[in-house]
Amino acid sequence: MSEPIDRLTSVRITPSILNADFTRLGEQIAGLPSADAIHLDVMDNHFVPNLTFGLPVVQSVRAMTTLMLDIHLMIEDPDRWAPAYAEAGAESVTFHMEAAHAPVRLARDLRAKGARAGAALNPATSAEAVAGMLGEVDTILVMSVEPGFGAQPFLDLVLPKIARLRSMISASELEIWLQVDGGVSLETVERCVEAGADTLVAGSAVFRADDPDAMVSRLRAVAVKTAGRMAPAQVSGRKRNR
Ligand code: DX5
Ligand code: ZN
Repeated sequence: MSEPIDRLTSVRITPSILNADFTRLGEQIAGLPSADAIHLDVMDNHFVPNLTFGLPVVQSVRAMTTLMLDIHLMIEDPDRWAPAYAEAGAESVTFHMEAAHAPVRLARDLRAKGARAGAALNPATSAEAVAGMLGEVDTILVMSVEPGFGAQPFLDLVLPKIARLRSMISASELEIWLQVDGGVSLETVERCVEAGADTLVAGSAVFRADDPDAMVSRLRAVAVKTAGRMAPAQVSGRKRNR
């Protein structure tokens, strides 16, 4: 009994609102009741060549939804800025390993403030960048496009890294979500899950669909079906890491 339930609950779809209509953001988020979390891309025009929104918008979103908020910080100096997002009530705050000065201290700080701590890796950053601190994080986010913009094509070159991270997570027996972000669609979700991902960000695939919430469900159905073909140990870790 427990295995199928474990498989079903171990796949998450976290739509990114980067391609939403920002003049109707509340309405657009309210239109995604099937989402496991809302993925919010904070960009500072320094770490990436694009600028989105910051803490005030996240605070407003926090006030209008009870869905989990999954903050993806594509900013320089996350050591300084990230904790405020946890204080604002975001359940998950992810910073880039390429940008953090003291990632272990930052992850501990985020957890101490009650958030899940996430570590993100750009396409060219190796799995080893986070290997030494698996016990400090709750999520590892693998970028499958260069960060900064939605609607870019999925980079298959990250698939071996996802598989490597899945092996590391399984060997550690820690419960770490392995998230893929960039170019995830009905066309690519299967290969992400086959490689070992259990948490999928989808931006343009969701917001360009006629029915965004139905697309969340369709993506989840494909992911769950793919995960169901695999051994549970390949899909999720076994043990809480804190
Ligand atoms: C890109 C962002 C992604 C983006 C994904 O830098 O981190 O979350 O919104 O959008 P799609 O799914 O269109 O690639
Ligand atoms: Zn993102």
